[in-house]
Amino acid sequence: MRNPIVILVVVVALSAVAAQADQTFKGPHPHAEFEDEIGTCRQYVQSNAHWNHSTIFVSETFPRDRTYVSMNVTSERAGAVKLILRRREEDVMQQAKLKSFGHGGKGENFVDTTFTDASSEADPFPVWASGAPFTGSWLPEVPLSSIDGTSRGKWTLMAFSRDGKAFHTPKIESFSLTFCEGEEPEVTAQGGVVVAPMEPLTKPVVDYPAPQSWASAPKPVYTGPNLFAKGTLRRFWTGAARTVADVTANYNEANFYVQQVKAVQDMAKRMKDGFKKGGK
Ligand SMILES: *[C@@H]1O[C@H](CO)[C@@H](O)[C@H](O)[C@H]1NC(C)=O
Ligand SMILES: *[C@@H]1O[C@H](CO)[C@@H](O)[C@H](O)[C@H]1NC(C)=O
Repeated sequence: MRNPIVILVVVVALSAVAAQADQTFKGPHPHAEFEDEIGTCRQYVQSNAHWNHSTIFVSETFPRDRTYVSMNVTSERAGAVKLILRRREEDVMQQAKLKSFGHGGKGENFVDTTFTDASSEADPFPVWASGAPFTGSWLPEVPLSSIDGTSRGKWTLMAFSRDGKAFHTPKIESFSLTFCEGEEPEVTAQGGVVVAPMEPLTKPVVDYPAPQSWASAPKPVYTGPNLFAKGTLRRFWTGAARTVADVTANYNEANFYVQQVKAVQDMAKRMKDGFKKGGK
């Protein structure tokens, strides 16, 4: 950068960029007016953005029953982009997050991507990259109705990059704002339109059967040893040893009585024999 010619070229280039930026930010922006199914709408277009934030100046006060923000943003990774819409009028600044980081994953670019609270037209923003390039109407993360006031103000769309890496910086190519009169009809979660409330219905009378009673039967419970309990093995061997000892003791005792009986029998036999002998 020591070379004066290089410096001159850089300075000229920078002033050209500044001049273009000046041109871009000159307001107020013109609008187009049209009717949709519900009411009159005004649309403002910023077709010369080329930056990570871009502004539309609106000098008219027009109702904002419905707000739509549409954009073409280039980004190599939608998940690394956070989108915010900000309104500034004099000292009052309000903003709503349209899309947070993560949603859209590795999906590339946003082409004609619109955010609106009109739930009959919009779905939650796609989580997966397969939704790229996200053409269609999506519900903003924070409702646009949270920004109050009329259409008047300095509206800035900001595209933040998660990692702040220059090559990841999203670029707003163009964006538009549409403000409409007339609120969208209320919609139920199932997508049905809510109609005028019905007359209260007479409550049907229901005869319930008398409560039944059942004789209680004890639930069978397993009472055997818990093989996983502490000491089971020790108790098993102790029990086994005791059984062996008992059996042995019983055997000895039984044997003792058998011997006794035998002794008595022998004695009786001897006495009988002696008697016979003596009798002869
Ligand atoms: C996005 O780009 C297409 C093609 O250039 C253009 O027709 C469309 O109006 C743009 N949309 C917005 C919201 O700027
Ligand atoms: C836009 O980019 C500039 C320069 O990289 C950065 O300082 C600024 O914070 C960015 N703005 C937004 C909204 O990401």
